[in-house]
Amino acid sequence: MAKTILALSSLYPLGLNELEGGFHVIKLWQEKYPDAAIRAHQADIVAVIATPGRNVSRGLIEALPNLEIIANFAVGTDNIDLEAARERGIVVTNTPDVLTGDTADAAIALMLAVARRVVEGDAYVRIGKWLNGAMPLGTSPGGKVAGIVGLGRIGRAIAARCEAFGIKIVYHGPNRKKDVSYDYYDDLAEMAAGADFLFLACCGGPDTKHIVDAGVLNALGPKGYLINIARGSVVDEQALLIALRNGDIAGAGLDVFENEPHVPEGLFTMDNVVLLPHVGSATVETRTAMGRLVIENILAHFSGNPLKTPVVA
Ligand code: GLV
Repeated sequence: MAKTILALSSLYPLGLNELEGGFHVIKLWQEKYPDAAIRAHQADIVAVIATPGRNVSRGLIEALPNLEIIANFAVGTDNIDLEAARERGIVVTNTPDVLTGDTADAAIALMLAVARRVVEGDAYVRIGKWLNGAMPLGTSPGGKVAGIVGLGRIGRAIAARCEAFGIKIVYHGPNRKKDVSYDYYDDLAEMAAGADFLFLACCGGPDTKHIVDAGVLNALGPKGYLINIARGSVVDEQALLIALRNGDIAGAGLDVFENEPHVPEGLFTMDNVVLLPHVGSATVETRTAMGRLVIENILAHFSGNPLKTPVVA
């Protein structure tokens, strides 16, 4: 049996060459009949490389009797059935830390883009509207309040960046943090009511599904902006569409969506919305570092060394 890695993701730009020396690697996206490719090597697959949108379900885990490790090319693990992995003693790794700065930068880029109308302004110049007069005014981030949902690594990096803009930080999450002086809210709607920018930086998955609902959006109010670099599942997308359409909130900067890569078309015509295709960590530097972590975790596992970044479930 050739030890086989089932790659659901390419680890671009690093690629999978380093693993191909020691393993047979199935690049599932290149297979004409993916299910048949998995079936043909079912008993040989010892590792799966996953990424958001390329899910490792209980069904896939159960179909692979010799699976030992799932290495996620992402920090979030809501694409993996962690419970099914735990039951089988399969280790799971992710890519924390290396993507923190870039993901926080993406959140700030979205905040500035919506508040300062960057994308709208770009179109204004390109299509010649400037010739007919000035565009509408933007909103100043300085002196405002950022409500951060999830004060983990990325939430904290967003907070640090916001502080440089003179923005006050408050936060919501399951627990109050002892090492920060920011005001804590255990009630999300209450925090949203006092926030100008509601940043979502929490984990996805069942615990946070639709925690941003119509009530939270109404609390955020007609001057408030929603910035989501977490997971689309955190927001009730239908409620968001209604809130944006009715002017219940001022705008939104969204990097993630409930059913990626499908984005509600209603958003496409809204000037007060900036959309990105889930690119929080998508820089050459960060994706290279993430790919390296995936490879190092797999090699460490099969050489009996400690994992670099295990997910502690
Ligand atoms: C990206 O969404 C990640 O979880 O790393």
